[in-house]
Amino acid sequence: MVVANRLPVSWDEESGEWSPSPGGLVSALTPILQRTEGLWVGWSGVPEVGFEPFSHSGIRQVPVELSEQLYLDFYTGFCNGTLWPLYHDAVRAPEFHRHWWRPYREVNEGFAETTVAHIGSDDVVWVQDYQLQLVPAMIRERAKAHRIGFYLHIPFPPLELFAKLPWRRQVIEGLLGSDVLAFQSRSSRTNFSVAARRLTEAEGTTRELSWQGREVQLQVAPIGIDTAQFEELGRAEEVREHAAHIRSELDNPDSVILGVDRLDYTKGIDLRMTAFKTLFDMRPEMVGKVSFVQIAVPSREDVPEYQRIRSEIEGMVGRINGDFAEVGRPPIHYLYRSFGAEELVGYYRAADVMLVTPLRDGMNLVSKEYVATRYDNTGALVLSEFAGASEELHNALVVNPHDVDALADTLGRAVSMDRTEQARRMKALRRTVASKDVFWWAERCLNALGV
Ligand code: G6P
Repeated sequence: MVVANRLPVSWDEESGEWSPSPGGLVSALTPILQRTEGLWVGWSGVPEVGFEPFSHSGIRQVPVELSEQLYLDFYTGFCNGTLWPLYHDAVRAPEFHRHWWRPYREVNEGFAETTVAHIGSDDVVWVQDYQLQLVPAMIRERAKAHRIGFYLHIPFPPLELFAKLPWRRQVIEGLLGSDVLAFQSRSSRTNFSVAARRLTEAEGTTRELSWQGREVQLQVAPIGIDTAQFEELGRAEEVREHAAHIRSELDNPDSVILGVDRLDYTKGIDLRMTAFKTLFDMRPEMVGKVSFVQIAVPSREDVPEYQRIRSEIEGMVGRINGDFAEVGRPPIHYLYRSFGAEELVGYYRAADVMLVTPLRDGMNLVSKEYVATRYDNTGALVLSEFAGASEELHNALVVNPHDVDALADTLGRAVSMDRTEQARRMKALRRTVASKDVFWWAERCLNALGV
């Protein structure tokens, strides 16, 4: 049983039908759940509507209902106003409100109860991500015999930050309800182990903790993508045509720089814009020869910090274009919408330089997707050292995104990188992304849970 905040399908109001939500997690788990007749417990994404369990894509789907108020306090409030900024280095001030904590507990209870109602005697339950950290212990209290895993997709912060959370002990105890607790990176695992030993009576090491007479295994399992699928899309005739079309619409510049992110303040889109402007200030000969396409996928639009960062970024795009555009040829092309995988790969194939500059990121799959589509070993990846992916993608141009001059320099280096260096780096990157794909990841996690 997979328990995640969202179901792997989403409800389309207009057509009144469910459609699959694409993504690595879903593609990796679908065959496994189909084979084991597994269930997926999750929120439908539509507040106030109670859906009955149903089957889709060969998986039994068990929707959890959320009222509008719970959605606001749990999701917009505690998940994305408290936990998200706190776990991402507090790059925005996390807010601590008791009236958000109680709904978080209540929603976690709802997920645990729904799960327990469907549990079979030898089922393995695998809980996903920061929205559901209390669920492992809640399931254990209600259904003791099952093996329970938890995977944190975002970073676990250092103790100095985590300790600020008024409900820190409850969160750790919730997670310790697992048999296996898995993280994206070694630093997250260490941070958790330190926090658990300091804030509860758990004892042990970075790899294993003893808690209430049980052993809890702490695992590192960096998530990957469906590499073969991205490579195949990259090679597809229509995608290559689309890429050529994008370049010609951009007036065939010497170099296309691309950013693809959910519009989130953790992604460093604002610093990236400043670095781009700095590059033009430093190397004016590049103006008119380099185009920057930023795809910003709308996200969490009800959260005030997301509204603020959106207008900041849009203001910056306007100012930079105002300074450097010729009529019909703005240097920045800003697209605020989501794209399907095929269209997105068209952009990856059109880009000479991929710019991935989060201030903190659990992994960052965009960097891996770009690499997977560069089957001809062309292109350059600029990657923040604060993305989990930088623990694996050593052959990227790794940079501190807070250092705007260094970022501008690195961007200049990426734009001017010769084919030989591109190929040397890209080959090594592609090897990593091919060997540790999302199927490798799922197997590693599920093996540890005895599946
Ligand atoms: C991150 C989180 C996921 C979350 C996704 C999209 O990747 O780790 O748990 O689903 O962002 O955010 P959303 O709030 O739209 O689910």
